[in-house]
Amino acid sequence: MMKSTLNDVKIIHFSKIENASGNLSFVEEDDDIPFKIERTYWIYDVPGGQVRGGHAFKEQQELIIALSGSFDIIIDDGSEKKIISLTRSYYGLYLPAGLWRKMENFSTNSLALVLSSTKFSEEDYILNYHKFQKYRR
Ligand code: TYD
Repeated sequence: MMKSTLNDVKIIHFSKIENASGNLSFVEEDDDIPFKIERTYWIYDVPGGQVRGGHAFKEQQELIIALSGSFDIIIDDGSEKKIISLTRSYYGLYLPAGLWRKMENFSTNSLALVLSSTKFSEEDYILNYHKFQKYRR
């Protein structure tokens, strides 16, 4: 597993085409984000107070965008934590593999879009925090 650090986490600002008729942003793989997009999924209808995504990935890199509303992402390298609030749809959070992350504080009707560097694979998940800490050592 990659030993990414909290410094490898990046906010990526997207192009924003502003117009009287509204705004438009876009992402092109390789140019705007540092991986090839193999999958995209979205999280929505999150009940108030719910926490999601308490796990790490061995391989998956991802870009998380708050397409609508807002939520917080807590990133953890096994010893230090960082909280990033995503509140606008013209930037996203790039997460390399090998960091523990959870998502919380979802606003009503928030919509999280996740661009992933891998196809879905259960084997890529580390679900146990204690195991994650061992991986990190
Ligand atoms: P999970 O990644 O645990 O969601 P979260 O971290 O946001 O709580 O996924 C929840 C369930 O959905 C789990 O049973 C796996 C399944 N799933 C897929 O089948 N395909 C996917 O692309 C994703 C992301 C999840």
